[in-house]
Amino acid sequence: MNRKSTLFSLLTFATILITSCSKDNEQDEAQNQNPSGGGNGGSTCDTVNIKYATGVVPILQANCYVCHGNGSAEGSVTLDNYNALKTKANNGTLLGVITHAAGYPQMPKNGAKLSDCNINKIRSWINNGAQNN
Ligand code: HEC
Repeated sequence: MNRKSTLFSLLTFATILITSCSKDNEQDEAQNQNPSGGGNGGSTCDTVNIKYATGVVPILQANCYVCHGNGSAEGSVTLDNYNALKTKANNGTLLGVITHAAGYPQMPKNGAKLSDCNINKIRSWINNGAQNN
């Protein structure tokens, strides 16, 4: 092989590498945006930028408001207003009850534990300052 053709094959190889890498990235991004990651069965779970209104409230609404919202306050706990929830988020109670940590009552009471994805979303929101966003 002469020098020119060596250089050419190197360039070709590099081009193939770069092309296949960028294809991988496109696929990753598409998966991250997959809304099915929010459920129980999805293989991906998007925990980036979880907001109170669109990320946290729907989870609590579906799993907790029946006892802690819409006029119900079992255990004197309401979770359907931001300030009450923020207190529980900041003192560790919220994460304690949903992760079934020792020393906390297990929530949802008498129900199935939240999916890992939903727990991670709430954890992520708390770690970002439990903002009213
Ligand atoms: C079937 C009714 C019911 C559901 C559903 C339920 N809870 Fe509760 N929750 C209770 C009761 C009753 C208590 C009072 C403590 C006890 O009896 O275990 C309580 C207590 C709590 C407390 C206070 C714990 C403490 O140590 O101060 C928190 C926080 C809480 N629940 C969060 C949640 C969250 C978050 C969900 C949803 C993921 C949820 N609960 C779902 C009935 C429920």
